Amino acid sequence: MDWNRVEISMGDITKQGVDVIVNAANTTLLGGGGVDGAIHRAAGPELLQECRKLNGCQTGEAKITKGYRLQAKYIVHTPGPVWHGGGHGESQLLRNSYMNSLVQASKVGAKTVAFPSISTGVYGYPLEKASRVALHAIEEFFSSGIENSIEKVCIVCFDENTYRHYVEAVEELKG
Ligand code: APR
Repeated sequence: MDWNRVEISMGDITKQGVDVIVNAANTTLLGGGGVDGAIHRAAGPELLQECRKLNGCQTGEAKITKGYRLQAKYIVHTPGPVWHGGGHGESQLLRNSYMNSLVQASKVGAKTVAFPSISTGVYGYPLEKASRVALHAIEEFFSSGIENSIEKVCIVCFDENTYRHYVEAVEELKG
């Protein structure tokens, strides 16, 4: 695994000049608070118009739309799991969100993809666990042999605490 292809940064995902940004959505895909709200505000009303046609999205699945007023050409929307203590398949669902988002991004030939820290806000997924699941999933995608154009995956963290957890997770996985 070439860890140079993974970058952890602090910032606002709506300002990233990447091909695809990933939205931590809910299953309606009709917007919400947190990063979902920020992305809809930045992308503009056409985003919601397109989302209405998608008929929602299951947890762990991912659907793609245009980026509209964002710098990013596309947005991949994925509902992560709500944390219910860890015994309800949450880690598999979170892994699916990352994997399916990367698959959707590779289908449009994306070279750069930015993720927020999926499920660790309103959905309450503990950061310690979610950061390891996220990076394992990214590593699994790159080592799966799935034909893809992706050169760089960034995790854009909105606060210092989140940032620290993802940096620690990368260090752990690098060994
Ligand atoms: N850029 C990057 N990260 C952001 C931004 C932003 N502009 N705004 C918030 N975040 C961070 C949060 O600080 C958190 O670390 O995104 C991470 C995910 O938090 P949420 O947005 O609450 O997402 P999640 O926990 O997956 O819950 C999803 O919240 O907004 C609703 O409609 C959404 O129902 C869904 C639920």
